[in-house]
Amino acid sequence: MSNSDIAHWDLVHQKTYKGTESHSKYAEEKEVLFPRNSLVVDLGAGTGADALYFARKGHKVILLDISNYALEKAKERAVKEGLQENIFTQQTDFGLDELPIKSDSADVVYSRISLHYFESNHTMKLFRDIYRILKIGGVAYLTFKSPKDHVEMEYLRKRASEFEKNVFIENGQLRSRFTVEQLNSILEKAGINDFSVNEYIEDLFDISGNLLGKLYLNEVVIRKFG
Ligand SMILES: C[S@@+](CC[C@H](N)C(=O)[O-])C[C@H]1O[C@@H](n2cnc3c(N)ncnc32)[C@H](O)[C@@H]1O
Repeated sequence: MSNSDIAHWDLVHQKTYKGTESHSKYAEEKEVLFPRNSLVVDLGAGTGADALYFARKGHKVILLDISNYALEKAKERAVKEGLQENIFTQQTDFGLDELPIKSDSADVVYSRISLHYFESNHTMKLFRDIYRILKIGGVAYLTFKSPKDHVEMEYLRKRASEFEKNVFIENGQLRSRFTVEQLNSILEKAGINDFSVNEYIEDLFDISGNLLGKLYLNEVVIRKFG
C-alpha cells in the first residue's frame, strides 16, 4: 500500500468529515433494487454515509477503503446507531491489492465515485475482480465521474497532464474520466458479458435537503448469471 496515497486520503477525510453526512440519492435509488438482507460490498466507502444507510435497511455491509481514518469514523457512527453487527471494514488499496473478499460471495457490489483513480488496464482488472466476488445472480452498481463535467475537464486539461486518453495525473494522483464508449470497451476487454453503461446525473443535497449541485457520472451495472 502506498503510504503517500493513504496519507493523502486520510487528510482529505480529516478535513471534510463532519459526522452528519447523509446518504446519497444514488444509494437510495439503488437500495430498493437490492435483495432483502443482502451482503453488500461497498468499494471506496469513505466515512460510510451510504454503507450505514444500507445497514439501517437490514443489509450486512463490508466497507473497503484506502483510508483507515475514514473506516474508523464509519465504525464510530455504526456503534452510535447500534449498527455495529451489520458493518465490517477492511483497509484496502484498489491500486495494489486483490479485493479481500471471497469469490462468488456478494449479493451486491456498490461503489459511488471511488473507482476513477486508475488507468484503463487497471480498471479492467478491477472489473474482473468485482465480477469474481459477485454471487451468481449478484449485481454491481458502480459510478464513475464522467468527462461531461466541462468545468472539471477544463481544470484537468489546464492543471494536470494527460497520462492516457481521459486519464489525468496531478501531484502523483491519477484521475480517470472515461466516456461511456471507453467504459464499454474496458468491460469487453475484461471478458464480462452482462453489463450496461449509462450516463447518470446525480443531484447533490445538503443535510436540510437543499439542492447543492449535480454530479455528471457514468453508471456501470454488471450482472453475474450462472
Ligand atoms: C470521492 S470519495 C467517495 C466516498 C464515498 N463512496 C461517497 O460516495 O461519498 C472516494 C473514496 O475512495 C477512496 N479511495 C481512493 N483511492 C483509493 C484506493 N486506491 N483504494 C481504495 N480506496 C480508495 C477514498 O479514501 C474515498 O473514500
